Amino acid sequence: MDIKEAINTRHSVRQYQDRPIDSELVGKLNALIEECNEQSGLHIQLILDDPDCFNSFLAHYGKFEGAKNYIALIGRKSMNDLDECCGYYGQRIVLEAQRMGLNTCWVGGTYSKGKSAAEIGAGEKLVCVITIGYGQTQGAERKSKPASKVCNVKEADMPDWFKEGLDAALKAPTAMNQQKFLLSLEDGKAVITAKRGPFAKTDLGIVKYQFEAASGHKCR
Ligand SMILES: Cc1cc2nc3c(=O)[nH]c(=O)nc-3n(C[C@H](O)[C@H](O)[C@H](O)COP(=O)(O)O)c2cc1C
Repeated sequence: MDIKEAINTRHSVRQYQDRPIDSELVGKLNALIEECNEQSGLHIQLILDDPDCFNSFLAHYGKFEGAKNYIALIGRKSMNDLDECCGYYGQRIVLEAQRMGLNTCWVGGTYSKGKSAAEIGAGEKLVCVITIGYGQTQGAERKSKPASKVCNVKEADMPDWFKEGLDAALKAPTAMNQQKFLLSLEDGKAVITAKRGPFAKTDLGIVKYQFEAASGHKCR
C-alpha cells in the first residue's frame, strides 16, 4: 500500500479485535517512533496492553471497545509548537500503521489521561493518544467540508501537486471533524494556518503532514 492509498483508506476505528499486534509490527512501530523522536525531540511511546486508559465513562461515551494499545504523544511543555509537532509526527505514524494493516483513532478527550501507563517526565505533557490495533472493521467514510471552505485558491490557479495536497488535507482527521484550517498558495508555496478551536494546533500538524505526504511538497 502506498501513502496515498493509506490516506484514502484510513478512517477512525474505535472497536478493536482481541488480538495482540504481531511482534514484527511492534518492532517496526518502535523503530519508526524512535526515528520520529530523534527528528522532533518528542517523547512518543508505544504502550501495549493498557486497557485501563480506555475503561472509563468518557471512553465508553466515545464508543471505544477493545482498545488497549496506543501511541502516547508526549513532549516538553516548553516546546513552542508542541501540539502541532505531535500532530505532524502522530499522523506520520498513523499512515505507516495503516500501511501495516493496523487501524487507529486519534483521541484527545475521551480517555483517562491519569490512568495512562506512559512515562511522562518532569516538564512534559501528554498531548493526545492514538489507539492502535486490528479493527473490527476498517471504519467508515465521513462528511468533509467542500474545498472552497478550507482553501482560498481558485482551481484554475492550482498546480497539480497542490490539488493532490488539498485532497489529502480534506481527508485528514481533525478533532470533532472540525476541519478548522485554511490553505493558501504564497509565492508558489503552500501555506496552511489553523483557525481557533480545541486541538486546532494538533489538527494543523496532522493536516500539514497529509498535505506533504500526498503532494511531495513542503508547506509552512
Ligand atoms: C486531535 C484529535 C482529537 C480527537 N479526539 C477524539 C476523542 O477524544 N474521542 C473520539 O472518539 N474521537 C476523537 N478524534 C477522532 C475524530 O473524531 C475523527 O478523526 C474525525 O471525526 C474524522 O473522522 P476520520 O478520522 O474517520 O476521518 C480526534 C481526532 C483528532 C485529530
